[in-house]
Amino acid sequence: MYKSLILVLVVLIGAVAADKRPLKLQSSHIQRIGKPLHQGNVGLDWCPQCIDTWDDIVQVVLDVILQYGVLDTCGDLCAIVESKTGSGVLGFICNFGCDFLGLDEFIKLMNKADIDPIYYCEKMNFCPINDNGDAKFKSFAVLPARAKMGSKIAIDFVYVSKNGTGTGEMILSIQTVDKVPLSAGLLVEAQKPGTYGDRIAIDTSPDPECDPTESQCEEWLQGVYNVTVILCNGQCGSHHPHSAIYDTAHGSFSLYE
Ligand SMILES: *[C@@H]1O[C@H](CO)[C@@H](O)[C@H](O)[C@H]1NC(C)=O
Ligand SMILES: *[C@@H]1O[C@H](CO)[C@@H](O)[C@H](O)[C@H]1NC(C)=O
Repeated sequence: MYKSLILVLVVLIGAVAADKRPLKLQSSHIQRIGKPLHQGNVGLDWCPQCIDTWDDIVQVVLDVILQYGVLDTCGDLCAIVESKTGSGVLGFICNFGCDFLGLDEFIKLMNKADIDPIYYCEKMNFCPINDNGDAKFKSFAVLPARAKMGSKIAIDFVYVSKNGTGTGEMILSIQTVDKVPLSAGLLVEAQKPGTYGDRIAIDTSPDPECDPTESQCEEWLQGVYNVTVILCNGQCGSHHPHSAIYDTAHGSFSLYE
C-alpha cells in the first residue's frame, strides 16, 4: 500500500510545483503600504507563518517520505523535516499540524496537488475559519487619477464587515496597456466586525531587473490602466471549503509622458 502511495507521490510532486500559487507579492510593482491589520492576540501569530512556509513544508515532507518511506509517527517525520531544513519553525508547524490531523490525514493533505495555503493552514488549525463572514467596500480611490509615467499610484480603500471575516486574501490586478498581466495576492487575516482600511502602492517605473527572456516585462506605456481589487474568504478562486468572494472594486488611472 505504501509503495503505491509513494508512486502517487512521485507523480504529484511535479503537479504541486506547477499548481502552487503562493500568497506572496507576485509583481514587484505592487506593494502594500497599509500595515496588515492585526488585532487581539499579543503572542506570535502562527497563521501568516504557516502560509509563508507552506510551500517549503509540502516540498520537504514529500521529499522525506520519498527518501525514508512513510514514517511511524509525526515526531519521527517532523524531526527529519526539522533537521533537513534546520528550521525550528518548520519543525513546529509540521509537528503541530501533524498531531492535530493525525499522520495519515497530514500526509494526505501534503499529497493533495491543488491545496491552497489558506485552506491548508486552516485544516492544520493555524488560521481561523469564519464561514459567516462578510466584507463590502465602502470607498475605493485610485490617486492620482492622472500621473506622469514612472509615478507612484496609491490605491486606498475602506471596507466594512458586519460579521467579521475569515482568513482570506485580497487580490489586486491591473489591466495594463501593453497587456502584461500584473497582480498580487495579499493575506488578510481573520477580523472581527468593524471598518478596515488598506493602502497599496503601484510603482509605474519599468523594473530594471526584469529580464525579458525570462518573463514579460511591464513597460508602463502611456494610457489608461484598470485596477481591480477582490476581497475573499480563503484564497480567491479556490474551490476548497471556506472560500468565497466577499466583494470587488474597480478603478483606473492614466499615465502620460
Ligand atoms: C452574518 O451571520 C449570520 C449568521 O450568524 C448570517 O445569517 C448572515 O447572513 C451573515 N451576514 C452577512 C452579511 O453575511
Ligand atoms: C479599461 O476598461 C475600459 C472600460 O471597461 C476598457 O475600455 C479598456 O480597454 C480597459 N483598459 C485596459 C488597458 O484594458
